Amino acid sequence: MIVRKPPMGWNSWNTFGRNIDEKLIMETADAMVESGMLDAGYEYLVIDDCWSEKKRDANGRLVADPEKFPNGMKAVADYVHSKGLKFGMYSCCGSMTCAGYPGSFDYEFIDAETFASWGVDYLKYDYCFRPMDQQGHLLYKKMGLALANCGRDICFSACSWGADQTNEWIKQTGAHLWRSTGDIVDSWDSVKSLIIKQDEYLTTNGQGCFNDMDMLIVGMRGKGNVGLSGCTDEEYRTHFSAWAFLGSPLMAGGDVRDMDETTKSILLDKEIIAINQDEAYRQPFNCGNHWKINDVKVWAKYLEGGDIAIGIFNLTDHAADPFIPLDALGLSRVSGKAVSVRDLWKKEELGVYADVFRTDHIPAHECRMYRFKVVDAK
Ligand code: GAL
Repeated sequence: MIVRKPPMGWNSWNTFGRNIDEKLIMETADAMVESGMLDAGYEYLVIDDCWSEKKRDANGRLVADPEKFPNGMKAVADYVHSKGLKFGMYSCCGSMTCAGYPGSFDYEFIDAETFASWGVDYLKYDYCFRPMDQQGHLLYKKMGLALANCGRDICFSACSWGADQTNEWIKQTGAHLWRSTGDIVDSWDSVKSLIIKQDEYLTTNGQGCFNDMDMLIVGMRGKGNVGLSGCTDEEYRTHFSAWAFLGSPLMAGGDVRDMDETTKSILLDKEIIAINQDEAYRQPFNCGNHWKINDVKVWAKYLEGGDIAIGIFNLTDHAADPFIPLDALGLSRVSGKAVSVRDLWKKEELGVYADVFRTDHIPAHECRMYRFKVVDAK
């Protein structure tokens, strides 16, 4: 299976934690279609931890909790598929999942077969309760190989939180995406720290195994399993933009049955999603006068077709006025070229700039997402 773009979808953990059942999953599937999420690209519906019985059956197979899923997982998968969505599930490379349900250690091939028989298209694979004599890369190789031989295309989503230098070995394992950081919670501090951490990982971005910055908290507003203080609308916009810009999978984590208009306008923005889903999926790079100086991130990314995406994230508590010398983008003064700038959130053409592009005043915690088109300088 080749996964060419960062997966997009929804995951149950951030809002619902243990409180998952068949009704919630079916209603969520309906909502993903009706709200326009599926049309926008959110195709995977993923059930996270806490879906199974505490014990395997007599044949060593995982069993769905009959109270939560009375018709079994195959029926849930069938419903999700009937809506045109893909179905995802969760397990763990250790003896137990993080919440204490049976893990897949030493059951990798049996579990991969079970998931395939239910019609699973995506497996999130966690890193709790692993035997200490087993190295992480081997645990992920075991499931990677089991999935590759289970007879069904299953997207393999590794979730070892960036621990044990995951970035150095994860591409060996068959994983299609890898979690590069610890868990997100619904607060600005969490968003800020996860974005800052990404400076270390820019070189690991690019095609092959997508760098997963964790599920989205857009629109949670402090409610649910990882709900904390919540964020302002602008902070949610900055969060979504950074995930989109850096090529992270976009897995919504709020209650999509009940999204307000602001949440929808963020999650469904076509121009921002296009930056995330760009065909080239190139590595982003630092540019601009603020880089490495403080927590105003000024990142660029070459897009398929010659445009350049620019993402500016003001993570500080004061306003910033960053600028980008176009030389840092590969456009020298002698090139005779300039850039025509579009502000992707404001939906405005800002004009043509040569030599340098200066932003407007960016308030604390806000971001700017631009698309630069290379044009002749006047
Ligand atoms: C964590 C993981 C979370 C969630 C949780 C479930 O390790 O990072 O995203 O899956 O386990 O228990």
